[in-house]
Formats: sequence, structure tokens, C-alpha cells
Amino acid sequence: MKKVLHIVGARPNFMKAAPIHKAIAERGQLAQVLVHTGQHYDVKMSDVFFTDLGMAPPDVYLGIGSGSHAEQTARTMIELEKVFLREKPDLVSVVGDVNSTLAGALVASKMGIRISHVEAGLRSFDPTMPEEINRIVTDRVANLLLTPSQDGDANLLKEGVDPSRIHFVGNVMIDSLLASKARAEKLSTLADLGLTPKGYAVCTLHRASNVDDPKVLSGLLSALSHVSHRVPVIFPVHPRTRKMLADHGLSGMLERSPGLRLVEPMGYLEFLALTSQARLILTDSGGLQEESTALSVPCLTLRENTERPITVEQGTNLIVGTDPVRISEEADRALDGNGKKGRVPELWDGRTAQRVAELYERVLSIGSGELRATA
Ligand code: UD1
Repeated sequence: MKKVLHIVGARPNFMKAAPIHKAIAERGQLAQVLVHTGQHYDVKMSDVFFTDLGMAPPDVYLGIGSGSHAEQTARTMIELEKVFLREKPDLVSVVGDVNSTLAGALVASKMGIRISHVEAGLRSFDPTMPEEINRIVTDRVANLLLTPSQDGDANLLKEGVDPSRIHFVGNVMIDSLLASKARAEKLSTLADLGLTPKGYAVCTLHRASNVDDPKVLSGLLSALSHVSHRVPVIFPVHPRTRKMLADHGLSGMLERSPGLRLVEPMGYLEFLALTSQARLILTDSGGLQEESTALSVPCLTLRENTERPITVEQGTNLIVGTDPVRISEEADRALDGNGKKGRVPELWDGRTAQRVAELYERVLSIGSGELRATA
């Protein structure tokens, strides 16, 4: 049997790889190895996702952990090379745009192993974002570029990519969302937090550009505080953000806004229970912009740009930047019931993993010479 090796590392990877791994297992045509780099290692950032998504435990765990970008990426590359030598995969499947994605793609490309990038073609056109570097380099070396929306195809074609490498398969993260929504809504998450459906907002923040700069972070907190005077704001705090709140001495601001409720990072199902019934979502996450569009919940993106423009063009997303006045105005509008309405984009239909599995089977039955990257 031909072998597919999947790489996951950080929180937003798990809900993308899980349905693909499951679809391939069910079809029974390919062998699989699941490698977890350990870029995210806390129970709440990693383990709970395997349980919630019904994902097979990793076959290989590398325990890479935190570090500077160079350290984290380099350590991951060193360990992945050993795994690839041992496992001899026919295809390496990487998802998203985190450092583990980049490391896997670089190592496989130097070893002449075919690479598939799931979630290819997304561009924020902001080179100061580490994820943008990861996206560009990964797409450059990957043989198969699997796009979640057709703006991804257009970006790749503009970069001169041969169309034969591009496959519009849809958004695999929405497979996880649709498969889990009913289970999530049976949880007592809302009741446990004393919330009523559509009676609260949800916020997440973790981008370096938002949380590492105390001026930006305190501006965002003041906007959240404004929102929290109208509805409770549930804010599951990423470890990076928690550290920055403490380092910048911003906890006083939080104490003055009792409606702004900081909680620990949540599991996949618990968080889905919360977002699916929210009146408004405020976030700097890429994934949550897509999930809110799929859930038809208005979303304010607290960034100056997005690599997911389809969520703005067709979905419920509005890019509002980091100015507290603008955020507060748009939040008021959404809370008054005038938030952005939208529709669900093409092929965000819960069947993406099946299309990916079929594509991998087709590709792996072809001679290996045919799919070398042309980059
Ligand atoms: C990473 C991804 C980002 C993704 C985000 C989702 C890159 C370049 N960035 O950013 O694209 O949106 O994950 O969460 O790959 N930490 C813990 N426990 C953990 C994980 C991290 O305490 O389980 C701490 C680390 O020690 C570090 C900080 O959080 O101080 C940042 O972690 P890191 O993986 O470097 O990047 P993220 O900001 O999480």
C-alpha cells in the first residue's frame, strides 16, 4: 500500500487533518502515519482536540514545544527528517500555515517526497505575518495545492503556478464543524457559564501584532470592555495572550470590566457550543473567520487584512482593524441586529475530506515522476 504521512502541530491543524485521516482510513486504500510535532503541547491546546474530534492518537510525537521561529522550525525539521527516512512516505500531507507546516514541506521537498498542501493559496499580502511566509514557501514547494476557495486558485495562478498543481477541494475545517455541531450543542457549556443563546459575544486574540504591543492590546481591551457593558464577552485566553496581559500589567483593565470574562482555552466541542449560539464574534484568528461564516454569526476581524477574503465577500465577516472606536461602533451595530449577513461559500459542504482522499488515491496510483513541483 502507498503511504500518506500527515503532519499536525498546532491547534488550528487538528480540525483540518482529522477528517482527512478519517476519510482515508474508511476508504482503506492507503496506509497512513500521523505525526504530531508538539508545537502546541498543553492539554488544552492539543490533547483535548484529539478526543473531541475522535481523532486517532498520533503514531509519532516529536515534543518540539516553544521557541523562536528559527528554533521551533529548525528543531521540527531535524526530527521530521528522521521520521521520513524511517517511514518512507509516498506523500506528505501538510495543513494550514503554522511553523510545523513549513518545516514538513521543506524537509519533504529536499528529500524528493511528494507534498500536498491543504489550504493552499491563501494570502494576506502582509509579509510581516509569520504565517504569510509559511504559506508562500509551502505553496512554492508543494506538488499538490488544495484550495479551500477559488480566491486561492486565483492567487496561485497569479504567482505563475501551473494549473495542473491546483485542486479546488473546499474547506476541510467545515467538515469537522458540520460533523460536530449537533454534539456540541448538547453540551451544557452555555448553562455552565450562565449564558443564553444569542445573548453574548465571544472573543479570541493571539496574533503577535495584536498581543505583543501593549498599546494595541490595551486598545483592543477597551473595545471589548465597551461590548461587555452590553452583553457578556467570553474570552478564552491563548497562552501567548495570557503571558502578554501579565507582562504588560493590563489585568487592572480587566477588573474594571466584569462583563469581560477571561476563561481558559476551550476544547473543540465546548468552543463550538459557544460560537454557534453567539450574537457576535470578535477575533484575530483565521479559522474563526471561516467558522463564523459557516455558522452565520456576525464576525468582526480585529486585523487590518485577511487571507480569507471570501468570508468578507460572501460571509458574515467584517475587517475592522484595531481602532477601539471603529470596533465599538461596528459591535454596537451587530448587537443591534444589523450585523453582516452572508451565505456559505461553495464546497464548504462537509465533503472536502472525501474529495481529498479520492485525490490522494488517484495521485498515488500515478508514476511518481509526474507530480514534481515545477517551482
Ligand atoms: C501558532 C501559529 C498560528 C496559529 C496559532 C493558534 C505559527 C507561526 N503560528 O501561534 O498560526 O494561529 O498557533 O494557536 O506557527 N504555548 C503554550 N502552550 C501551548 C502552545 C503554546 O504555553 O500548548 C505558548 C508558547 O510557549 C509561546 C506562545 O504560547 O509562548 C506561542 O506559541 P507558538 O506555537 O509559538 O505560536 P502561537 O502564537 O500559538
